[in-house]
Amino acid sequence: MSSITLKSLTKQYTEDRRTLDHISLEIKDKEFLVLLGPSGCGKSTLLRMIAGIEDITQGEVYIGDVCVNEVEPKDRGVAMVFQNYALYPHMTVFENMAYGLKIKKVKRPEREKRIKAAAEMLQIDSLLKRYPSQLSGGQKQRVAIGRAIVKEPKVFLMDEPLSNLDAKLRNEMRIEIKKLHERLNSTFIYVTHDQVEAVTLGDRIAIMAEGKFRQIGTPLEIIECPVDMFVASFISSPPINYVDAVLVNQQGKAIVDIDGVRVETSLPIDVVENHPRVVAGIRPEHCFITDETSNTFAMEVLFTEIIGTDVLLHLTYKGSDFIVKKSFTQTYEKGQKLYVGLDASHVNVFDKNTQKNVRSLS
Ligand SMILES: Nc1ncnc2c1ncn2[C@@H]1O[C@H](COP(=O)(O)OP(=O)(O)OP(=O)(O)O)[C@@H](O)[C@H]1O
Ligand SMILES: [Mg+2]
Repeated sequence: MSSITLKSLTKQYTEDRRTLDHISLEIKDKEFLVLLGPSGCGKSTLLRMIAGIEDITQGEVYIGDVCVNEVEPKDRGVAMVFQNYALYPHMTVFENMAYGLKIKKVKRPEREKRIKAAAEMLQIDSLLKRYPSQLSGGQKQRVAIGRAIVKEPKVFLMDEPLSNLDAKLRNEMRIEIKKLHERLNSTFIYVTHDQVEAVTLGDRIAIMAEGKFRQIGTPLEIIECPVDMFVASFISSPPINYVDAVLVNQQGKAIVDIDGVRVETSLPIDVVENHPRVVAGIRPEHCFITDETSNTFAMEVLFTEIIGTDVLLHLTYKGSDFIVKKSFTQTYEKGQKLYVGLDASHVNVFDKNTQKNVRSLS
């Protein structure tokens, strides 16, 4: 069994600062968990502690039922793809991939079979005789993934493995990693900055900030009900729109009033009293352009950004930017006036002071 349990895990590089601050999490056997968070929040540190190559200041790491705090990295059944590849410069691609297998005393024919299969999958079979210095960044990264795959580990730890690939290869590799997970029956912990990668790959996503988890949930839970504005912003691409609003009691129902535009919510009525000043979080994909002038916002076009078959309309509303995403079916002129309606069921409401989602507080 290769579940992973983190119990109050803490890392202090220096006396005055906790890089990881008492974090706890249970990752199920064969789960694909994505760690998402800004630079410096402790993602790599956490992976390295699970791999056993970074000391634990406090707390425990379990793999299955075994506390592995004192277990050597090579005996943990874990393979890691490092952010900086960490290939051995004096070894060829083939030797890099074979090294871990030799240590585990895997026989030569089996080694060659696994390396051949991984190299074909990663499209590096023509590079096996080269040295790392003779590879591009993207090729090095694929070798690093290959080196982990051939070990057939119980647990895969991947630290931004696709960050140096071009867009096309990145898309292909994202699918390959998903297939790899299905095929290998291993538990995956995958670090990324990229929310598309996070929602595509993750069974669950753990959003980190400053050494703590802000929210852990399925992609849908996090997209639909982010616990706070930090999470809402982090998971939104294009960026979520924020507009000041108030909650009002309209015949016993909690209504969000955004400058006179009223949106019905399913929130309990007591939120109205508890949160006098709120911010409505509205995703660009949950808005629509309409001819309707009542209960809509009058906005003006700043510019348009065409992305594939969709368009992002960059608008201004009361001097602030507001983005609407829609399918690209017509062109818009700078300065053009438009009316924007909201898809009420997707509006999130945050307390203006605490920035927390009033739904998760209620
Ligand atoms: N060996 C070290 N000594 C002191 N501080 C360190 C050390 N390694 C990392 N840190 C600090 O710990 C924090 C977390 O670093 P970590 O590399 O885990 O971040 P990260 O989330 O992986 O960031 P990125 O997305 O940029 O890779 C950072 O503030 C970093 O400066
Ligand atoms: Mg990192």
